Amino acid sequence: MALDRKPAPNDLDAFWMPFTANRQFKKAPRMLVGAKDMYYTSSDGRQVLDGTAGLWCCNAGHCRPKITEAIQKQAAELDYAPAFQMGHPLAFELANRLVDVAPKGIEHVFYTNSGSESVETALKLAIAYHRARGDGARTRLIGRERGYHGVNFGGISVGGIVNNRKMFGSLLTGVDHLPHTHLPEQNAFTRGQPEHGANLADELERIVALHGAETIAAVIVEPMAGSTGVLLPPKGYLQRLREITKKHGILLIFDEVITGFGRLGSSFAAEHFGVLPDMMTTAKGLTNGVIPMGAVLTTGEVHDAFMQGPEHMIELFHGYTYSGNPIAAAAGIATLDTYKEEGLFERAAELAPYWEDALHGLKGLPHVIDIRNMGLIGAVELEGIPGEPTKRAFSAFLKAYEKGIMIRTTGDIIAMSPPLIIDKAQIDQLIGTLADVLKTLD
Ligand SMILES: Cc1ncc(COP(=O)(O)O)c(C=O)c1O
Repeated sequence: MALDRKPAPNDLDAFWMPFTANRQFKKAPRMLVGAKDMYYTSSDGRQVLDGTAGLWCCNAGHCRPKITEAIQKQAAELDYAPAFQMGHPLAFELANRLVDVAPKGIEHVFYTNSGSESVETALKLAIAYHRARGDGARTRLIGRERGYHGVNFGGISVGGIVNNRKMFGSLLTGVDHLPHTHLPEQNAFTRGQPEHGANLADELERIVALHGAETIAAVIVEPMAGSTGVLLPPKGYLQRLREITKKHGILLIFDEVITGFGRLGSSFAAEHFGVLPDMMTTAKGLTNGVIPMGAVLTTGEVHDAFMQGPEHMIELFHGYTYSGNPIAAAAGIATLDTYKEEGLFERAAELAPYWEDALHGLKGLPHVIDIRNMGLIGAVELEGIPGEPTKRAFSAFLKAYEKGIMIRTTGDIIAMSPPLIIDKAQIDQLIGTLADVLKTLD
């Protein structure tokens, strides 16, 4: 691939990189300069197989023509339109398309620009929903240990990843957490949903008894926790959570930033597990990761609670300059077209058994203490080096990149979530290379 730009800048100092070991990176940069379908091109001219769909977001693969063309066309036609008190057609069209692809009962779309903003929006909506209905004491938010809900204050408050929380003060008040559902003693090496752990949803009853249901606005969980290392919901767990939240008038929010748009082999995890939440947060795959955009999807009931008072009055004092941005909306529509035309959600479901077999073939390799999978997502958990957590998996990540595959690590867990266009030979390449890497780890 011809490059008409400098492959690597000569000064890396100014850019403070997010969620990155900056000093390590800048000593030995890993620079990507191109991408097509399943592969990245590195600045040293190598083809790197994308085992992570970028950051769990490029579900249709890279530089897909329909999406690229839609963006180019829209940028030349209507680059920006004010998001407040004005509209443009594509934002409405995309909202309708999202409602079509979402589970029945989801009827409205509130646009944001990222997963983190979707989470903040959903949490605010939950509290405001109760207040709009005259139930203003419901302000508590319940998250879950090991949950990841982005990096803003609401999200890290309900989130349960210690390193994301501990540096940032006392966070939101009135938050409590469910226990996580990771039970390696009982569920290690389970294929798909684990058998044990549905009872952990009953912990919500304990939290309700402690605080009083009348103080709780919402429970937010990832239906499948991605960033914390692919933690699957035990069989029956989400259904139980839905029953308990409903019984106590508490809203249930599914954070579908990773699970949305085909990752599990269905449009959304809510569809996959047959559990309808009151709100779903999305981003990433909404525009195939190409343009920042997120959305909160809500039921009619949540939306309608706000539609009261004089008609000239703003119903919800919340929104972003770029909510429903025309170029992002064009990218979103072209992305949904691509998913549909290429049957990518179905493709993920069809490939899932092959993916599962390949992944579980890594059992028995050095340091592997658990393997988890569902749809086109998988994790290989390694035993950490005593006293040096994360080091072994990070070393696997570096070696994997050298050998031409991109994986992600969190703690000592390797997570993979390839674009849904991956084929069987590429699954073999990904897992085969990872096997070679695992054999060389200290
Ligand atoms: C479940 C979940 N929620 C929220 C986010 C935050 O999304 P963003 O990085 O777009 O703010 C992520 C990102 O990985 C996520 O996985």
